[in-house]
Amino acid sequence: MKKGTPSLLLLLFSVVCWAQNKPQDYRPQYHYTAPKNWVNDPNGMVYLDGEYHLFYQYNPFGNVWGHMSWAHAVSKDLKNWETLPVALPEFDNPDGTQTMIFSGCAVIDSMNTSRFFEKGFKKGMVAIFTSHIEGKAQHQSIAYSADKGRTWKRYDKNPVLDLGMKDFRDPNVIWYPQKQVWIMTVVKPLEYIAQFYESKDLKKWTLLSEFGKQGDMTKIWECPSLTKVPVAGSKETKWVLMISSGHRQKNYLAMQYFVGDFDGKTFTSQKQNEILYVDEGKDFYAAIPFNNLPKSQTKPIIIGWVNDWEYAREIPTGDTWRGGFSVARELSLKKTADGLRLVQLPVSSFKNGQKEAFSVKNKTIEGNYTVPFKGEVFDLTVEIQPQQAKTVTFNVFQSKDEATVIRYDVAAQELSLDRTHSGQVNFHPRFSSVERVKVPLKDGKLKIRLLADKSILELYAQDGESVMTDWVFPTQHEGGISLTSEGGKAKLNSLTIHTLH
Ligand code: FRU
Repeated sequence: MKKGTPSLLLLLFSVVCWAQNKPQDYRPQYHYTAPKNWVNDPNGMVYLDGEYHLFYQYNPFGNVWGHMSWAHAVSKDLKNWETLPVALPEFDNPDGTQTMIFSGCAVIDSMNTSRFFEKGFKKGMVAIFTSHIEGKAQHQSIAYSADKGRTWKRYDKNPVLDLGMKDFRDPNVIWYPQKQVWIMTVVKPLEYIAQFYESKDLKKWTLLSEFGKQGDMTKIWECPSLTKVPVAGSKETKWVLMISSGHRQKNYLAMQYFVGDFDGKTFTSQKQNEILYVDEGKDFYAAIPFNNLPKSQTKPIIIGWVNDWEYAREIPTGDTWRGGFSVARELSLKKTADGLRLVQLPVSSFKNGQKEAFSVKNKTIEGNYTVPFKGEVFDLTVEIQPQQAKTVTFNVFQSKDEATVIRYDVAAQELSLDRTHSGQVNFHPRFSSVERVKVPLKDGKLKIRLLADKSILELYAQDGESVMTDWVFPTQHEGGISLTSEGGKAKLNSLTIHTLH
């Protein structure tokens, strides 16, 4: 063999691999991604005049984290997004340092409490964000827009809240009508503390109380939010405090939530010794609720960043874009024997415009059943009764050598999402993983809804009582789906697949 041959072979092999795994094959179709560059947390989510605004952490100059600025997208239906120019860019300070625009929120100051707008103007938008000076400071600042978030002015007396700390961030502000004040939730990440402040004008903030040092403290606390959530089947509402932090599985990231009461000053958690997670997958972080939703929308709506800091920088989506966002999810609370639990489902408008591509009912599954549908972009609902089966396994994104495996283990009452053989997993030692969550059957049934979108999977079990969101990077793109029962027969009550446009 000639000397140059091995490297030539290697080159050929790389070219074949590259041709099979085109980064654009991973671009989700109905999950929002930026046209190019790095993204992380959703920011400033707010509704105004028929438009939902999604601002987000963005690097205008590349697909790695840096130069953090607020990019901007708008949607009329929470499904189709239009990308607008960067809203709040990083800026230079007189001393030669830069201020990055870190995470935060936006509110509609319809009573012009800030006096930023003309008298009587009801559509003023105010952004409240962390002004970050690398290695030096984090404080909270504000900016305002009188043209629906298209152009912004920074307040000339920023910052509005400064504790002289290097880690103090991610303000989330809501209107609290009982006291006619704005309430800000913000975190001291390294101390596992959320603080609550109040303000009459968004400029002067007074500390009300602190909450923390409990729940998941395996990772720093980021991106808090305090939201009123309706309890299903009652007229009641409860307050939910969501905080991005650690995952059930060590060293990954996730979001935890506390259910409790807020009296305008203090948040009290109902239970202290339990840790509740919003999403049991590896790729759901930094979600915050929309502000100023129409009155008819009684359930809060959140969107999360699909990624995990653990490997976010390495996901194999190529040179153009990196990171994405979940679909918009509605929140409610459900009474269970263990207490109130968060329930999440894609917003109902998400069903609009879908086309039924396949449906089957009342089928006995013995061994393997290949679903006569192939695809990588769909919304699938399945209801199954395991009956005599010990496990029921759903393979999606399946080809000869690859599959993402969703399995229900009847004895353990456990639903798992296994991406260890899903395709590209070796780009980071921590990516290959199995997510597990306890999901009891209901009247002997398991109901699953799976949103599949090229490289993002959102798995909702038992009508949204458990959710898992994960990236997967199949290389064959055959999109096979199969169902297998092991240990006995299972009954497939129904399986419906819709495609989206
Ligand atoms: C969370 C986070 C926030 C911060 C932002 C910076 O992912 O670390 O705490 O504001 O990202 O991009």
